[in-house]
Amino acid sequence: MSVHTEVKRVSVPQLRALKGQRKIVSLTAHNFTTARIIDEYVDFVLIGDSTAMVAYGHPNTLSFTLEQTAQHTAAVVRGTRHACVIADMPFGSYQESTAQAFRSAATLVAHGADAVKLEGGAVMAGTVEYLVARGIPVLAHVGLMPQYVNAMGGFLAQGRTPESAARITADALALEQAGAFAVVVEGVAEALGADLTRALSIPTIGIGASPVCDGQILVIEDMLGLTERAPKFAKRYANLEEVMRSAVERYADEVRAGKFPEPQHCFAVKKP
Ligand code: KIV
Repeated sequence: MSVHTEVKRVSVPQLRALKGQRKIVSLTAHNFTTARIIDEYVDFVLIGDSTAMVAYGHPNTLSFTLEQTAQHTAAVVRGTRHACVIADMPFGSYQESTAQAFRSAATLVAHGADAVKLEGGAVMAGTVEYLVARGIPVLAHVGLMPQYVNAMGGFLAQGRTPESAARITADALALEQAGAFAVVVEGVAEALGADLTRALSIPTIGIGASPVCDGQILVIEDMLGLTERAPKFAKRYANLEEVMRSAVERYADEVRAGKFPEPQHCFAVKKP
């Protein structure tokens, strides 16, 4: 991609204004090539901390660092010119204080992020307000919050009892009040996803929530069939593992049989 190619991204206000107009489409990406391919089809790309799992093989998202997020964000920014780019605030980079959250978010913005996402309910409302007042748009994240995996005792669906649903609703309303421009709703009872979408004036982005949500997001490796196990809510739109295995098997066979490279893959000596 040339640096002179025109960049005209979907802006955060445009994303927010899509509520009630049409569904918002989003996927995760963490590298230049994937970002380049998906750019024209999505409204925003999220550099999720799920990168720790799908790109680095960690069992959860807790080990992802700010420096890693910044580098992956810069790669995704270089691969896109249409989609809004949103970077996940990694665990430990924003919970300590509003000042710490601002420094971390500013690092991601300096690497090209248009907005940041952070997990947490009402407890993070002050942080959201602080960032938004200082020019950093925030996408909130409620319901199943992977950074709470140890507290939850696993990646467990939330909002399945009236008490849990009421708590998540209060969280989402507090985050809206604090100035979040949209909220990811992950792994909740379908009725709650629909209720939140009706109750909030900002868009809900569902992942294992409800088709009623204002938009949807999936981890791209899950939907392309590149992960060994995908969550129940992740529909597989392709089986790229099968495609890769068969291509690599053919390549290995041809190399071993001396059939690759062929003449068209080789350089001739230059004529004097
Ligand atoms: O890290 C991530 O990929 C996410 C999405 C699943 C929303 O937070």
